[in-house]
Amino acid sequence: MVRLRIVFMFLLLAVTGCLFSGPPPEPYTTVHYYQFSLPGFNATFDPLVEQFHRLYPKYRIRVHALPTGTDDQHQFYLTHLKTRGPGGIDVLALDVIWMAEFARAGLLAPLTDLLPPEKWSDFFPASVQAGTFGEKHYGVPLFVDGGVLYSRKDLLQKHGFDRPPATWSELVSMAKTIMRVESNERLYGFVWQARQYEGLICNFTEFLPRGQPWLLPQGGGRLNRALIEPRLRFMRSLLTDGVSPPSVLAMAEESSRHVFQNGQAVFMRNWPYAWRLLQQADSSVAGKVWMSSLPAVAAGETGHGTLGGFLLGMHRDTPVADAARAWIAFLARPEVQRTLWHKLGLIPARKSVLRSDPPPDPPPVNVLFEVMTHAVPRPATPLYMPLSQSMQAYLSGGLGKVYSIDEAMRLMDADLQRLTRVLNDKTGA
Ligand code: GLC
Repeated sequence: MVRLRIVFMFLLLAVTGCLFSGPPPEPYTTVHYYQFSLPGFNATFDPLVEQFHRLYPKYRIRVHALPTGTDDQHQFYLTHLKTRGPGGIDVLALDVIWMAEFARAGLLAPLTDLLPPEKWSDFFPASVQAGTFGEKHYGVPLFVDGGVLYSRKDLLQKHGFDRPPATWSELVSMAKTIMRVESNERLYGFVWQARQYEGLICNFTEFLPRGQPWLLPQGGGRLNRALIEPRLRFMRSLLTDGVSPPSVLAMAEESSRHVFQNGQAVFMRNWPYAWRLLQQADSSVAGKVWMSSLPAVAAGETGHGTLGGFLLGMHRDTPVADAARAWIAFLARPEVQRTLWHKLGLIPARKSVLRSDPPPDPPPVNVLFEVMTHAVPRPATPLYMPLSQSMQAYLSGGLGKVYSIDEAMRLMDADLQRLTRVLNDKTGA
């Protein structure tokens, strides 16, 4: 009888247990992480993810690789950030230029307390600044970027030049001399990124003199025409004088790197990630390259690169905030930044790592420090992307002779005023 009662109780518990406990709990908390892709991306990220899983056995990271181009990534985020469904974006890598737009739209969660104040000061200040909106940190620096010049050391030395060019006009005369004497029709002078995309804005700002604004605040936002027009003419002359091939009008970072890496150009403007790839065994230019700061407009001035790089942000509505924060803190660790540098050539946003942990065949760290310290940010406005897209169209049209330089300037200026009015309406200014 007692045995019967025990069996009955057991059955009752089993049945009610099944009825009321619902589906078995998920063994893991999954974080969906979205970011750009680069050559060597999976081989670098897979081991990092495994390492994170060992540290946090209850968490799982799903990495979603987006296209390499920053404009394509921005388009993806525009569509997916506002309507975050199940399995949507928890953590994302943000180009420095999107922070104001996404933070102002309330799509990101503040991360100020993710790190103690003294840890924030290890990052390059410009990168921290780029991740700050209204006094709060919304972005944790993943890596920093700044435009640099790559020169073919072997060709320069062969033709009697013992250092990279210090000014843009020096670059032109060196390129012309080398091209004339080498007389190789497959050797270009200078490759850069003039395709109609964000990279064109970065290149454009690097041709301008340092420290002078290209947007003038007075009169409701005007283009600094006196500054820009001569430089746009210079950019066009690179094409008309044959220093740069017409194909630069279609070049982005990777396409220009391939040309330079095949030994087909004397100079290249690019980001520091290219250094590691240029030094690989299959590169025609391994050991034959100088990396330096970009040339200046006038002798005696210092040139400057555009400030680039990516930040880590967390979606405001993520249901897995603890796990997402742990993943962001992990990616910001010194040893992870070192891995990203050594394996992908991404420059650590942490000064301590850049100073102390060079990869084999390191790029010149003093040049990187100089470039990252002086890199010039693009305007931090929530309307940066429409502003950039409008400028991209007119710059590209001006370079490709769709417009005269004069027309390109007028159209850019008119559009800038229209955008400023939109911004003022939105902010009630
Ligand atoms: C690099 C930079 C980024 C920039 C982009 C332009 O990825 O890090 O800031 O917007 O190039 O192509």
